[in-house]
Amino acid sequence: MKTVIITGASTGIGKACALWLVNRGWRVFAGVRKQADADALTASDARLIPLILDVTNADHIAAAVQTVTAEVGADGLHGLVNNAGIAVGGPMEYIPVDRFQWQFDVNVTGAFAMTQAFLPLLRQGKGRVVNMSSISGRVAMPFFGPYAASKFALEAMSDSLRVEIAEFGMWVSVIEPGRIATPIWEKAHSQTSNMFDGLPDEMWTYYEKPLKRLLGIIKQTHGPSPDIVAAKVEHALTSPRPRRRYLIGKDAMAGYLLTWLPGPIRDYLAKGAFQ
Ligand SMILES: NC(=O)c1ccc[n+]([C@@H]2O[C@H](COP(=O)([O-])OP(=O)(O)OC[C@H]3O[C@@H](n4cnc5c(N)ncnc54)[C@H](OP(=O)(O)O)[C@@H]3O)[C@@H](O)[C@H]2O)c1
Repeated sequence: MKTVIITGASTGIGKACALWLVNRGWRVFAGVRKQADADALTASDARLIPLILDVTNADHIAAAVQTVTAEVGADGLHGLVNNAGIAVGGPMEYIPVDRFQWQFDVNVTGAFAMTQAFLPLLRQGKGRVVNMSSISGRVAMPFFGPYAASKFALEAMSDSLRVEIAEFGMWVSVIEPGRIATPIWEKAHSQTSNMFDGLPDEMWTYYEKPLKRLLGIIKQTHGPSPDIVAAKVEHALTSPRPRRRYLIGKDAMAGYLLTWLPGPIRDYLAKGAFQ
C-alpha cells in the first residue's frame, strides 16, 4: 500500500485530497491542528489517519516523523503534499512585518521543514513531493503581495529541490490552482479586516478604492470544487510522467497568459483589476 502525508487537511483542498486518495487505495496521514478536526476527519472516513501537525511547530513535525516511520517501516513514504497555507493581503506599505513573517512561516518555512524532515522516508519509498502553490506563484497581483511572495518562494524551492533529488528516483511537482471554493477566502477576509482595524487611518486615504475592492474580492467564496485539484495531485503522485507544474482553472490560465505580456500592459491590467 502506498502512503502519503497531506498537511492542512482539516478543510478545503487538503481534505479533498485526503478523501480522494484514501478512496483510491492510499494510506493517508492527514495533518490537522485541532483534535476536533482529527475527529471530524475520521468521522468522514475511518481509514484516514489524522496527525496533529502545525507545520510551524518543530516538535509536531518530529512527532509526525516518528509516527509515520513506525507505520511504514522499510517501505518508506510515497508522497508528501505540502498543502497547508494561509493568505495575507493588503498594501505592502502597511502590512505589519509580523504578518508578513507569519505568511512565510506557514507557506514557505513550514513546507521546507516538512520536506526536509520527511526526505529520508521519501528516499526509501522513491516518493514524490507535491507543493500546493497557486497562480499567485506565477503572477503577483497588487494587494496580494505577501501571499504571492510566499508562493513564488515555494515555486523556487520546488525547482531547486526537484533537480537535487531526481537522481534518487524522487520528484517534485507544483500545483497552481486559480480560485477554488474553500474556506481560505472567508478566513482571509476576516483576518484581513481585523488587521486593517489595527492599521493607521491614513492607509484608507491612500488606498481606499483598491482596499474596498480587495475585501470584495476575498469576501466571495466561489470557484470549482477542490476535487479538481485533488485529481491533479493524484496525477502528480502516480503518473509515470508527472509534470513540473499543474495550472488549474480558466482564471489560472488567464493569469499565466498575463506573464507573456509586456510589463507596462501587465501593470495596467493589474491596476485595472483594483479600480
Ligand atoms: N482556495 C483557493 O482558491 C486556492 C487557490 C490556489 C492555491 N490555494 C492553496 O491551497 C492550499 C489549501 O488552501 P485551501 O484553499 O484549501 O484553504 P483552507 O480550507 O483554509 O485550508 C488551509 C489548511 O491549512 C491549514 N493550516 C493553516 N495554518 C497551518 C499551520 N500553521 N500548520 C498546519 N496547517 C495549517 C488549515 O488548518 P486550520 O483549519 O487549522 O486553520 C487548513 O487545514 C493553500 O496552500 C492555498 O494557498 C488555494
